[in-house]
Amino acid sequence: MNILLLGSGGRESAFAWKLSQSPKCEQLFIAPGNAGTGQYGTNINIKVTDFESIKRFVLNNGIHLVLVGPEEPLVKGIHDFFLADEQLKSIPVIGPQREAAQLEGSKDFSKQFMMRHNIPAAASNTFTRETLQEGFEYLATAGLPVVLKADGLAGGKGVLICLSLQEAQQEFLEMLTEAKFGEASSKVVVEQFLQGIELSVFVMTDGTHYKILPEAKDYKRIGEGDTGLNTGGMGSVSPVPFADAEFMKKVEERVIIPTVEGLKQENIPYKGFIFIGLMNCDGEPYVIEYNCRMGDPETESVMPRITSDFADLLSGVAEGNLDKRELTISPQVAATVVMVAGGYPGEYLKDKTITGIENVRGSQVFHAGTYHEGELVKTSGGRVLAVTSLQDDLFTALQQATADASRIYYDGMYFRKDIGFDLL
Ligand code: AMP
Ligand code: GLY
Repeated sequence: MNILLLGSGGRESAFAWKLSQSPKCEQLFIAPGNAGTGQYGTNINIKVTDFESIKRFVLNNGIHLVLVGPEEPLVKGIHDFFLADEQLKSIPVIGPQREAAQLEGSKDFSKQFMMRHNIPAAASNTFTRETLQEGFEYLATAGLPVVLKADGLAGGKGVLICLSLQEAQQEFLEMLTEAKFGEASSKVVVEQFLQGIELSVFVMTDGTHYKILPEAKDYKRIGEGDTGLNTGGMGSVSPVPFADAEFMKKVEERVIIPTVEGLKQENIPYKGFIFIGLMNCDGEPYVIEYNCRMGDPETESVMPRITSDFADLLSGVAEGNLDKRELTISPQVAATVVMVAGGYPGEYLKDKTITGIENVRGSQVFHAGTYHEGELVKTSGGRVLAVTSLQDDLFTALQQATADASRIYYDGMYFRKDIGFDLL
């Protein structure tokens, strides 16, 4: 099977690394990829939203399956584009069609879906410019803190947790009347604040059957002790100690089954990953959000724990017989430390030369924002590398990943040294 993987981050590096180990994967192409993905396959200089170029590449290179990493091409309808094209429609795309991608693309859509299917989530209401007044009345009675969410994709920045009513009113007004998050905040979801610990649960589904991939915990703040600005993710660990069998049974019964069944009942086809962002509130799971893709940097901790053939699982999704495929998971613990550029998540340094990757011994280095300049590897993104170690216990995995990250250098280099420490 020849596979085209779309994306260029740490998540795609982890997918590419895993797929390159599969006897079923003959040729692997990554578009556009990064300086690391070229170790596992062939990088192709095509943007993930350039559907016409993707089409030409798929047809000219005998691609049998397309795996979509990031949400943007899904929300923009890459799967629908394939289905509507005579030449492409028989080539499976792993990732949902546009309608189902709204589970991520529209917070209002996902909240309505959860309500229809009795999936536990924070109480909420959605408002627009036309219902501004009702929104203010709702805010006044919602309690504090209160959560405001831009309906659409806002690059991870569209969620505000407001501690005072005054702040909430001000932000609410700016989101709706001054397009604080552009078109994304033309609708605003006002939501009850949930107190608890977060985790990410990943489901792979062919629309009928599902498999639960290893869960993970992601560390979003830039600073140690979970302080400072939000980022795309500074590290991850898998498994999550508090996601024990009892908790995961609740997640499966109350969230996963109703989600997969709900999509089916509503005739919304879904072939791909469902990323469920959950809050564990005193042992009870509540859904914070759905994403229509895998998480980053969670994938970097999830892939090393999958011991069965990942390409075979993708075939199962494509062919609708995922129940016939094997998913086996290592009991070992994966820890990922994300190395970022100086200044990130604000304006950050670029084009810095990276050295020392060859000195890493007990971890896998997944590239994210990197490119080649001749023989040199240089930084291009905010998140530069993800260093993952798989060990028998969490402490050793964290220690190894952190020690290996210290062996790598570039100007402005930064990473958190406390990933997973809250779980020890
Ligand atoms: P989202 O984009 O919906 O994942 O929200 C971003 C982050 O905001 C989440 O990862 C949570 O940390 C936080 N968050 C979102 N919704 C809530 C909520 N209802 N209660 C508490 N925290 C929340
Ligand atoms: N790590 C969170 C995300 O991928 O959205």
